[in-house]
Order: sequence, then C-alpha cells, then structure tokens
Amino acid sequence: MHILHVVGARPNFIKAAPVLRALAARAGVDRIYLRQTLVHTGQHYDASMSDVFFQQLEMPHPDFNLGVGSGTHAQQTAGVMLALEPVLREQTPDLVLVYGDVNSTVAAALVSSKLGVRVGHVEAGLRSRDRSMPEEINRLLTDQLSDLLFTPSADGDENLVSEGIDPAKIHRVGNVMIDTLVRLLPLADAHLPAELPKPYALVTLHRPSNVDDVPWLRQVLATLADLTRQLHVVFPVHPRTRQRLDDLGAAPGLGARLRLLTPLPYLEFLALQRHAAIVITDSGGIQEETTFLGVPCLTVRENTERPITISHGTNQLVGRDLERLRAATLQILESEVRKSALAFQRSEEISNQRVPLWDGHAGERIADIILRGAA
Ligand code: UD1
Repeated sequence: MHILHVVGARPNFIKAAPVLRALAARAGVDRIYLRQTLVHTGQHYDASMSDVFFQQLEMPHPDFNLGVGSGTHAQQTAGVMLALEPVLREQTPDLVLVYGDVNSTVAAALVSSKLGVRVGHVEAGLRSRDRSMPEEINRLLTDQLSDLLFTPSADGDENLVSEGIDPAKIHRVGNVMIDTLVRLLPLADAHLPAELPKPYALVTLHRPSNVDDVPWLRQVLATLADLTRQLHVVFPVHPRTRQRLDDLGAAPGLGARLRLLTPLPYLEFLALQRHAAIVITDSGGIQEETTFLGVPCLTVRENTERPITISHGTNQLVGRDLERLRAATLQILESEVRKSALAFQRSEEISNQRVPLWDGHAGERIADIILRGAA
C-alpha cells in the first residue's frame, strides 16, 4: 500500500507526525508492505515555521517540496495544484492524506479526487459557520471531496451528516494534535525559556480578521499593554502579524512587561502554554491544546469551529470586545490566585478525561482504519 501525505503549514506538521508514525508501526506489526511518501507544499517555508518542527517532531525529510510559498489565496491554491498533479501521476498512491484546513489541504484534495485517487481528511467535520474565514471554505470543500473522514469529536460527525456525507465514510478517531502533545509534553519543560517572568499571559494572533485590520490590531496591542499592569505578556509573533506590526511602526505601549518574540519551536511553545496563567489567541489548535492542558484560554474571535473546547474545556470566546478580554483576564487571574491558595494543581489527566478520544491514540486509530483489511 502506498500512502502519500500532503502537508504545508505549521499546524499540518503537528497533525501529520503521529499519523506517519502510527502507520509505520502498525504496518510493521501486521507485516504489511507500506510505502509512505511525504509532500511538503512549501506554504510555510521559514526555518522557524517549518524546519524546526520537522526536527522536533522527528518527521522524515519530505520526499518532495513543491516550493509554493506565499501569495494570494488563488495563487497559493493553484500553485499547490499545479505542482502536485505531476507528483501524483508519477507516484500513483493508493491514498492521499490531507490535514486540517489550510490552502494546501483543499488544493491537494481537489487534485487527488480529480485524478481518481482516494482522499482521507484528518480533522474532518469542524465548522465555524463563518464563510468569511478562508479555512471554513477549505473545510467544507475538503470534506465533500474526501473518501475517509477522520473526525476529532462528535460535533464533527453531526456536521458532516447534516451536509449529506455518507456516515459510512466518517470515523471518529479523536485529536491527532493531542497525540503529539501527549508524546512530547514530558520533554517540554526542558525547553522553557530561561528567566521567565511570572505570572504571564501567552498571546498569539495571526488571523486576517485580527491582524489585517490595522486600527483593530492597534487597539488589541493597547489592551495587552494595559494588561501588563496585572501580569507579564509574552507574544511570539507569526510572520503575517510581524509584517503588520512593522507597518504600524513603533507599536504602542510595548515595554519590558510585553515581550514580542520570534515564532517559537513546538517544544518551547508547549512549555510556555503549560505554565501560562492564561492564553489569549485566535488559533484553532491552541484552543484545543489549552483544553487538554487545563489552561484558561480567551479566544479573540466571534466563533469557533471547535465548540468542544468551550463545552468540555477551558476556552471562552471574547469576540471583538476588548473590554470583555480585559475583564475575563482579570477574573481568571483572581480565580487562579484563589486556586493556588488552596494548593490546587492543574492536572492534565483530569482535563484529558473530559474530551473523549483526546488521549494520544488518534493516529493509531487512523492507522487501524486505513490498514484494516490490508494485512
Ligand atoms: C495559514 C493558514 C491558517 C493557519 C496558519 C498557521 C490558510 C488559508 N491559512 O495562515 O489556517 O492557522 O497558516 O500558521 O491556509 N510567511 C512568512 N514565512 C512563512 C510563512 C508565511 O514570512 O514561513 C508570511 C508571508 O508573508 C505570508 C504570510 O506570512 O504572506 C501569511 O502566510 P500564509 O501561509 O498565507 O497564511 P498564514 O497566515 O500563515
């Protein structure tokens, strides 16, 4: 059996690593001849957004790098399609696996399905119901094109069924991003940056709705600067956000207590999440990771495609309401102080039990389904 994996952007690497690993292990045990080919589209290309993830996640070197790079949505999507088509024709895989909801995901699903190659979508079924998000378009289309849909939670199954997808194609396997977290959490603390001020809020913002709107970004920064009266703020900055901050010139209110960092490797960022008093983000994956870690998370978005992080986890949507962001931060800080007075310990195991199948074994379940019958 020949499986070809397509990855392109930072969160894809974190999701693909456990699937590659589990497929290899399962094939070894069952003595199945399995060939795995890894294609990197090159959507993310900086060493800090790509290479360091391959190293820390111990992923094999990509067999192909399509070198697509940045551009408009059409340029990026078309670039992946044009470069991937000849690779698929030459490699003739039995199955193409695509991950998450980035432009590389939908492009690869479209090329594969037109060539008659079966497509498996890892992290299927998530919906924000907000079509102004490019990722929502990518999710809807990728799921329509896929033959195997691997969902992280029950809401994913329900969304797919309501869109007319055959339930026989849907497999609830759990969360592959949490597989990587479970495997690497024991190594994370050794990567905690030295001289970390405490308590601190960990901030990440990269969605166009937050960072491409310059007046809004300026207000968000002013609010973060204001929060430094209560706690330190540590903000590793995504390249898109860095460009916008450069456009702003001297960002307002940046001081010693608001630290802007370069994008961090996986283990450093995981360590920072684990020890944060609070995480403020617009990322999808970080809503999930904080749910697992039991760290309070404030999401600067009006909606989420991951409602389980609210119903079962630690996430709150604050929308575009900076007063709410400020008030929620203060409230969380107060309750953290109370908990520490009671010697409360955050427990990954307790929070882990709350979301079914977020247990470090999703990749194995995917391997089991794909290789079932191949022995
Ligand atoms: C993409 C995904 C988003 C995901 C995010 C994770 C889409 C539509 N969006 O957004 O869902 O949450 O990745 O990071 O696929 N850049 C660099 N170096 C890099 C990569 C990007 O400098 O290695 C700069 C480029 O100027 C580029 C900009 O960042 O134009 C945005 O990159 P892009 O891949 O278009 O989208 P992301 O914002 O990273």
